[in-house]
Amino acid sequence: MLTLIENIKELVQVETGRRKLRAQGNEMAQMETVKDAYLLVEDDKIKAFGPMSEWKTESGKWKVDREVDATGRLVFPTFCDSHTHLVYANSREHEFVDKIRGLSYEEIAKRGGGILNSAKATAAASEQELYDMAWLRLEEAMRLGTGAIEIKSGYGLSTESELKLLRVIRRLKENSPLTIKSNFLGAHGIPMEYRGHQEDYVDLVINEMIPRVADEGLADFIDVFCDQGFFTVDDTARILEAGIKHGMRPKIHANEMAISGGVQVGVKYNAISVDHLEQMGDAEIECLKGSDTMPTILPGCAFFLGLPLSPARRMIEAGLPVAMASDYNPGTSPSCNMQLILSMACIRYRLTPEEALNATTLNTACAMDVSGNLGTIAVGKRANFYITKPIASYEYMPYSYGENKVERVFLNGVER
Ligand code: NIG
Ligand code: FE
Repeated sequence: MLTLIENIKELVQVETGRRKLRAQGNEMAQMETVKDAYLLVEDDKIKAFGPMSEWKTESGKWKVDREVDATGRLVFPTFCDSHTHLVYANSREHEFVDKIRGLSYEEIAKRGGGILNSAKATAAASEQELYDMAWLRLEEAMRLGTGAIEIKSGYGLSTESELKLLRVIRRLKENSPLTIKSNFLGAHGIPMEYRGHQEDYVDLVINEMIPRVADEGLADFIDVFCDQGFFTVDDTARILEAGIKHGMRPKIHANEMAISGGVQVGVKYNAISVDHLEQMGDAEIECLKGSDTMPTILPGCAFFLGLPLSPARRMIEAGLPVAMASDYNPGTSPSCNMQLILSMACIRYRLTPEEALNATTLNTACAMDVSGNLGTIAVGKRANFYITKPIASYEYMPYSYGENKVERVFLNGVER
């Protein structure tokens, strides 16, 4: 099956030369495009692209099954969203109001709200209910231009509930056209009954949860909320060692509340990414240099909680890569809109549009281990892309915030 997208005003983020698995430092500002372009898709893969003038001389070689006219429109690779908690039972707008009235995120968590509030609702929900809610959220993410997504457990906090969440993610993987990676986040919060002796909860994660999760092959990654008031560096190291033994690669929630040592422990265990990073000192930046760990900023969370902004520019100037994901969850970032993350990258973190695009596609793809196959428009990569509404330029994408500029989405070569 051959599909031709023709008369594309500008085809954005193409790779013609040597392929990159991530863009770091100065490379983040590099982005190739083709004006007045075509894109040829064979089955689920990108077959060819180039200027329309070239297509006109080449076209005799191909028998195209479907033609799509993109006059006045741009084509981009779909977003990769490498950090979400998309499977959850309840929204938490009452805590949102508490926050407006002056309570902090940590205060809400201490009195049993926050993650524990979600855990209670998750325990009461059936697997089917959780699946149906998650499915609608995935559809919404796709309509907004997301083609790959990482989904964490972590609202279970008991063996049975964590397995239930991970089984939901497995079913989403099987049935959704999005590329999905699953992440076991049993160490997301400390259940009330373990307060004061949280090492017993860590033991439960290590001795019971991880082996069961591994037995059923439910997780690609393992995650820990390593932060002030949550899990310590020692807890984190123990959990990561157990996860690695069972074939799960670490990802870390680090430095949201305080400089926690989470970056260092993540790098030590070769985490695929360390995420949040609202609090970053020179030592954290230094430690990431030369590592394979992707620093991942979550602009939606900092916006929603009014947290300090992660020093994205400083990291890029130090030669590091930067990724930006949605952190979609009911407590700190109730939006899966990666177009908004793209805008925030430019407006709040002062990334250029080119850097922001690399941060939300190629680098997030790297942070979920799919950048060999996704994250740019390149021959042989998976045909995941969107066609915009008629817009003036690629800079218009981050400039115009809060609007959906995506008109049509193609995943695995098929229009959705
Ligand atoms: O990434 N920081 C920890 N976990 C989530 C929040 C979870 C919640 O409040 O429900 C986050 O922000
Ligand atoms: Fe998170």
